[in-house]
Amino acid sequence: MGNPQTIWFNHQKQLVETIDQRKLPFQNLIFEITTLDEAEYAIKEMVVRGAPLIGVTAAYGMFLAARNLSGNNFQEEMKLTAEKLKSTRPTAVNLAFAVDEALSVISDQISVSENVKKLFDYAENLKQREIDFSKNIGKHGLEIIEAISKSKNGEPVRILTHCNAGRLACVELGTATSPIYLAHEADIPVHIWVDETRPRNQGARLTAWELGQADIPHTIIPDNTGGHLMQHKMVDMVIVGSDRTTLNGDVANKIGTYLKALAAADNGIPFYVALPSTTIDWGLNDGVTEIPIEQRNATEVSMMDGMLGGEVHEFRIIPENSPVANYGFDVTPARLVTGLITERGICKATREGILCLFPEKEIQ
Ligand code: MRU
Repeated sequence: MGNPQTIWFNHQKQLVETIDQRKLPFQNLIFEITTLDEAEYAIKEMVVRGAPLIGVTAAYGMFLAARNLSGNNFQEEMKLTAEKLKSTRPTAVNLAFAVDEALSVISDQISVSENVKKLFDYAENLKQREIDFSKNIGKHGLEIIEAISKSKNGEPVRILTHCNAGRLACVELGTATSPIYLAHEADIPVHIWVDETRPRNQGARLTAWELGQADIPHTIIPDNTGGHLMQHKMVDMVIVGSDRTTLNGDVANKIGTYLKALAAADNGIPFYVALPSTTIDWGLNDGVTEIPIEQRNATEVSMMDGMLGGEVHEFRIIPENSPVANYGFDVTPARLVTGLITERGICKATREGILCLFPEKEIQ
């Protein structure tokens, strides 16, 4: 599989490298990030995407910005940098979390170069934390897949997922996909229904690519297919990721997730959300009214690219003058969520459930 990580610091070139996710699955290209502007561009244009990876990229962005500062008004400049990075994408809370935590490691008691070193160490540390979180989410989520598998006498566990909460969205392993990888490694038969995830097709383009690389059986389905499959008992469980989860367990994730949760509830199918604690917004309670929902460019809906004659082409797929709405995320209310799979274990999507796993957050 080559480098299993999606972002890394190239010490020889002294810059950050990542996979250009806009190009997959047609081309597997490396994108270089040298400056704050390039980090902002990468997040905004979705060269990198997925809540944990956005957070790690922003942390490297803080380091790159600091490295290019002269030293005058260092603290003030870094605060401005933090605001710039935070404004790139509003829904995934990992971004604000990473930027604020990075700000907290710098100090006016030490030199700029020492601060630069601290910011670099912070970015590397956050990256490792996300890798560890993904591994632990995998271990906990595996228990659920194992239990379902036992009840199916060796028949594949059929899991539906939406968008890409795989390694591309994180650093390694992913969140929703981490238990799937572990189940596959443990020879538990699985079959993954991959929602294509319009408009950007993260499922069809990225999740399917990742699963294919790991030889995990999967089928891409148009976004509207899940309800039908659930009615016909062709789905054993749903696992999705999250961009922001409130303290009461409401989950913001890629647009369309809510509809899958409704269909799952109507058909008695367990609906799990896999997320690291860096995705929990400890200050929010009501997801529907409080989580900012990103609206993106109309061209993501009106245009689509694909391979033709060995080349990538972009096509318009709607009438030229029809208006378009492009909401990036929706909120699944906690009542539709069977459980949250976190790095510390599985809990109910309730304030009590979350605080039982993260008691140190009770005081906030
Ligand atoms: O707009 P995107 O592609 O960044 O949205 C990503 C998702 O919605 C993922 O499901 C989410 O970030 C979880 S990633 C582990």
